[in-house]
Amino acid sequence: MCGIVGYLGKKQAAPVLLDGLRKLEYRGYDSAGLAIMTPEGEIDIAKAKGRLKVLEELTRGGKSLSGVCGIGHTRWATHGEPSENNAHPHCNDEKTIAAVHNGIIENYAELKEKLTRKGYNFYSQTDTEVATKLVDYYYKKYGDPIRAISEFALRVRGSYALAVINKDYPDSIFAIRKDSPMIVGVAGGDAFLASDVPAILKYTKSVYYVDNMQIARLEKGGVTFYNLDGEEVSKEIVEISWDAEAAEKGGYEHFMLKEIHEQPKVVKDTLNYIYRNGGLDFSEVGLSDGDFKKINGIVVVGCGSAYHAGVVMQYVTEDLARVPVRVELASEFRYRNPVLTDELVIAISQSGETADTLAAVRAAREKGLKTLAIVNVVGSSIAREADYVFYTKAGPEISVATTKAYSAQLIACYAFAIKLAKLHGQIDGDYYAKLLKELLSLPEKIEYLLSRKELIQKFAAKTMDRNDVFFIGRGTDYAVCIEGSLKLKEISYVHSEAYAAGELKHGTISLIEDGTLVLGILTQKNLVEKTLSNLIETASRGALIAAIAAESVKLSENSLDFVFRIPDSDEHFIASLAVIPLQFFAYYLSVLRGNDVDKPRNLAKSVTVE
Ligand code: F6R
Repeated sequence: MCGIVGYLGKKQAAPVLLDGLRKLEYRGYDSAGLAIMTPEGEIDIAKAKGRLKVLEELTRGGKSLSGVCGIGHTRWATHGEPSENNAHPHCNDEKTIAAVHNGIIENYAELKEKLTRKGYNFYSQTDTEVATKLVDYYYKKYGDPIRAISEFALRVRGSYALAVINKDYPDSIFAIRKDSPMIVGVAGGDAFLASDVPAILKYTKSVYYVDNMQIARLEKGGVTFYNLDGEEVSKEIVEISWDAEAAEKGGYEHFMLKEIHEQPKVVKDTLNYIYRNGGLDFSEVGLSDGDFKKINGIVVVGCGSAYHAGVVMQYVTEDLARVPVRVELASEFRYRNPVLTDELVIAISQSGETADTLAAVRAAREKGLKTLAIVNVVGSSIAREADYVFYTKAGPEISVATTKAYSAQLIACYAFAIKLAKLHGQIDGDYYAKLLKELLSLPEKIEYLLSRKELIQKFAAKTMDRNDVFFIGRGTDYAVCIEGSLKLKEISYVHSEAYAAGELKHGTISLIEDGTLVLGILTQKNLVEKTLSNLIETASRGALIAAIAAESVKLSENSLDFVFRIPDSDEHFIASLAVIPLQFFAYYLSVLRGNDVDKPRNLAKSVTVE
């Protein structure tokens, strides 16, 4: 969703801002713009509909805009169509104040009416123009830029990350956020602002995470933070461990391909986070053995792929630890008034900023429940609001479709399930050691699967014209199906469904016809025969059938159109292997169909609005 950058320092601002916006492209956008404070003390604005390169061409890579202070934005249309007029930055009538904004101002219509009564005119359909003019109104009223922003915050409902430049303060950028991410970075005399770390990683790794309703004033000498009463507040600087290269393509054609290949490392790094002295140690997560022993029930919440990781967690945790686990879509959980007693609520999120997941964490905390976040982005909102945090070690994930972060989430889920099982006395020392050994062998097995990607590439080439793909499986195989199907939909735009194999007969089988592709996941030994029969049934209705099967699963391979083997593993963890060919399948189909793999249409990386 929308990207914000701000820069103030010694360099020409526009090229730095464009560079930052490029790093945020993955978030999804439909127009972009810059506002620069010129050396003459005027505000210069350049905006363009479409890709960032249009804005780059318009401003000759930023060179045509002189000045060392500015703000930039990539917009994802919410209020008003994608157009140059609706693109940010927006400004007041006199062009003395300009602002960029992420999020949604829910009461913008009401505020617009109020400002219209005060004599304001509006040139766009956006809530951001309303936000800008509201700040302008309070600045004119009180003559204080910090007060103007506090007054804005007190009157606005919704979510926002807002950055403002003001002609009266040519050496400052003012910013505030609520429920929309924003970080501030510093390096030497330079100050940066961004909605996500990759935008400024090239310049600095020292950042401040701006808290909700906190105001930041960036100046050449550094940054000052204020509360809504205008009082200074002190904040700790955080050093980011990600390096700039991690956010580059590194020779791969797409970020998604690079990120698929990073999975052995990501799995290893995530394991190293909690694997100590031959056992699982959750002290960095903040969970003691005593805390584990008190867990009597679990509710897992997440959205999209994070929810799918939660489905795997449910199967694995209940089977190993015999503790009841419920998994819910965060967007449903937050509104459905669920019955809760003393469950641990586990929120899974790569970005740590997904609006519905954050709201679910808040809802759980309001009910007095403890929350554990399984999150990738350090310092993100969910990480800061949860009681305990398990940081997955996926590094920056740039491609919109998640791959490596999902794999890291699975590791966190397995480790949690094993530890819980051990401390609840459900598994003995030998089984515990065996499970850990299996976990530690996953990176090598994933590496092996990466080396076999051409098989999937060929299969994708053969099936690229199929319009309907069904994924079927049982147990954790079903959990992998829902992830594989989502990957396919989101980047290849092929219609796809995931079905628990036993459900197919209850209606959906009527959709199977000549040419439908049905892909079975066959890894759970006591279930494969059943899924296989379901698969064969679809073949007799004209489907092309394929299987992703564990090495030791017996199949008469000529009854299937395509079989891809994955190494055997403990069945609890085999989702980590079965998902790899499905990621490749979606990737290659997307490439073959000429789609924008890393930035699929209509999608944003971080969904910070409902
Ligand atoms: C799919 C995908 C999304 C995310 C979902 C949650 O490839 O990336 O479905 O998994 O939007 O995002 P996070 O994990 O950031 O909460």
